[in-house]
Amino acid sequence: MIRKTFTVLLLTAACLRASAQEVSLSKGWKLAVGDSAQWASPTYNDGHWQTADLNENWERQGHPNYDGFGWYRTKVVIPSSLKEKSFLKDSLRLSLGTIDDNDEVYLNGKLIAKYGGHGGTIKDGNYGGRVYNIAVNNPAILWDKENVLAVRVFDTGGDGGMVSSGFGSVFNITMADVMDHVWVNTDADFVYGDNNSLSKSVKLVTSNHYQYSGKLAFKVTDPENGAVLYEKSNDATFTSGKPFTYSFSIARLAKRSYVITYSFTDTKSGKEIVHTETTPYILTPYPTAKVKINGADVFGARPGHPFLYLIPATGKKPLVYKADGLPQGLTLNAATGVISGSVAQKGDYPVTFTVSNTLGAKAKKFTITIGDNIGLTPALGWNSWNAWGLSVNDEKVRISAKAMIDKLSSHGWAYINIDDGWEAENRAADGKIVTNSKFPDMKGLADFVHGLGLRMGIYSSPGPRTCGGFLGSWQHEDQDAQTYSDWGIDYLKYDWCSYSDIAPKPDLDGLKKPYQVMQASLGKVNRDIMYSLCQYGWGKVWEWGADVNGNSWRTTGDIQDTWQSMSTIGFNQGAAAPHAQPGHFNDPDMLVVGKVGWGPSLHNTRLTFDEQYTHISLWSLLASPLLIGCDMGHLDAFTLSLLTNDEVLAIDQDALGKGASQYVKKDDYQIWVKDLKDGGKAIGLFNTSDKYQTISLDKNDPAISGYTKFRDAWQQKYIVSTGAALSAKVAPHGVLLLRVEK
Ligand code: GAL
Repeated sequence: MIRKTFTVLLLTAACLRASAQEVSLSKGWKLAVGDSAQWASPTYNDGHWQTADLNENWERQGHPNYDGFGWYRTKVVIPSSLKEKSFLKDSLRLSLGTIDDNDEVYLNGKLIAKYGGHGGTIKDGNYGGRVYNIAVNNPAILWDKENVLAVRVFDTGGDGGMVSSGFGSVFNITMADVMDHVWVNTDADFVYGDNNSLSKSVKLVTSNHYQYSGKLAFKVTDPENGAVLYEKSNDATFTSGKPFTYSFSIARLAKRSYVITYSFTDTKSGKEIVHTETTPYILTPYPTAKVKINGADVFGARPGHPFLYLIPATGKKPLVYKADGLPQGLTLNAATGVISGSVAQKGDYPVTFTVSNTLGAKAKKFTITIGDNIGLTPALGWNSWNAWGLSVNDEKVRISAKAMIDKLSSHGWAYINIDDGWEAENRAADGKIVTNSKFPDMKGLADFVHGLGLRMGIYSSPGPRTCGGFLGSWQHEDQDAQTYSDWGIDYLKYDWCSYSDIAPKPDLDGLKKPYQVMQASLGKVNRDIMYSLCQYGWGKVWEWGADVNGNSWRTTGDIQDTWQSMSTIGFNQGAAAPHAQPGHFNDPDMLVVGKVGWGPSLHNTRLTFDEQYTHISLWSLLASPLLIGCDMGHLDAFTLSLLTNDEVLAIDQDALGKGASQYVKKDDYQIWVKDLKDGGKAIGLFNTSDKYQTISLDKNDPAISGYTKFRDAWQQKYIVSTGAALSAKVAPHGVLLLRVEK
């Protein structure tokens, strides 16, 4: 696997400390590439092996482009004082940084742990941080003596080795502590009761065999003043396989979040764990039965290419669709609202959509633009990565497409994008790209998605391998573009990944080159394929992404579902923002709302509800592609409300295509302003601090002077504002998103 290595300084303070609670493993390793059973043996003489640098993958230690097996060995004394000083005395914990991709761990010649792909073989992809628990009575451990630790690593492609990285940088041996592997699982959904209640069940869970017995304290506080609104203490016992479930029901107070604190104290050990979460509150008005036509005001397609557009509309079903002024070559399905066909002549075609139901009809003016530029407003869709990672499969994609049609497409959501993990490891004899067994019929899948009126995306790399170690498009660009077109692909995310093996130190031209090559290949096919560049913002891609015909370009490394990650990315888009324009948008990475996981098991986003409002508001102000990164088969009420607010989406989809600028930047708040096509503006007042605060904008400030109407976009209602300033009390890490009008 290949990563943009966020190389973190190897030695954390903890590793330097030679304390009795911990034995450092950050130094003294030897490395050899290749494979031999003897290398596990404690008596093997590795004196001639090279000294390993845990800061670097093995490519950068003299093995360029090496994929396959390699071994790391070290010697370590494991003092029995570790065990004596610990409370649990039950297992040793071995932390081995990050393994790229898989490993088997031998202690004194005996296999003690392996991570060969969740029960698979060592050749299955499982890049990531490694922490192993070894029972203290495991005979492989030689207490108070020298132990030989040997790690057999298998790299599936691209960078390889045992390294310190942002994903897991600790190399040491400690004892598992009583509160390690204990957590409060809050992943169940909140349930909104009719009687204005909010209920939920949480679980105290452990993988330890120790019998936990103590008190679980439950507390709800108001983050504005710290007032305790509700408090309860409960007896709780649990152990491995027998969790403790706590269910509660509280009043749904106002339209704001409260903080819930769960603290469990184990009586015998006196140790405690604390977990907090916030309560959800929905601002998006509940959809009405009356017809509303949503979505962007424009859609672009190239002449002669297949055209597909679903008119987004809400209201009591059945809906009947009509479109006046459609250019020649297009037809509308009056029952589904899907427009299809193809238009030969370039031009701007003004169209009027009318949608009706038993309660009445609504009309909307729309422009179909046939020309070279497509993706005139940022893509609205789903991408598999932040939810499923490499475990994506045909079924998950179909479930997502179904969910999009049932719940989201009526608000303009249209793309179903498969990220890494669909490709095989080898091409067909004729060089054609093939799918792996998780995608038995890519054309059939695309037909299914198109049949619903949606469009489908796929992923590749200009390098020989993708970041997940699968086939990339290197030297097969024309052939791959043609295959995508034959399958019916509408969107390509093109991720740099192993292209570093081809161009290790690219200059600006070198950074552009692989994207120009695929641009040319996409230009040869008879199909509109949205082109999404992914190279983490290198070489200020926002300055040239449009020149290589990118419909979007990633401006950052990978997002994570934390405030730190989301806010750092979002609030640092100021330099890129002015480059957004119709057909060409900055992409600060995909959304981290809902259930995410980057693999087979998912968890609720770690963003608070206010942080999620900030995330969607900021991304919309920035005119970013909005690519949902969660399990679409499980959209809870809050997440759905976040993704279906038509006035917020309209800010993202505004036809002017501008990105907001950072208008005010203070230590604890920021104001971002975006110009809109109708002469109005969208304004975000962001509280970046962790306390409630009032944010004000003087009414004579150029950002709002002359504007008289202030609309709260999330609540979809006008704000009454008297006085010289527009002021709003904003929650910690929260936002007030406004639309100002003359
Ligand atoms: C990363 C990319 C992610 C995802 C992943 C797939 O490089 O930034 O968004 O596509 O590769 O392996």
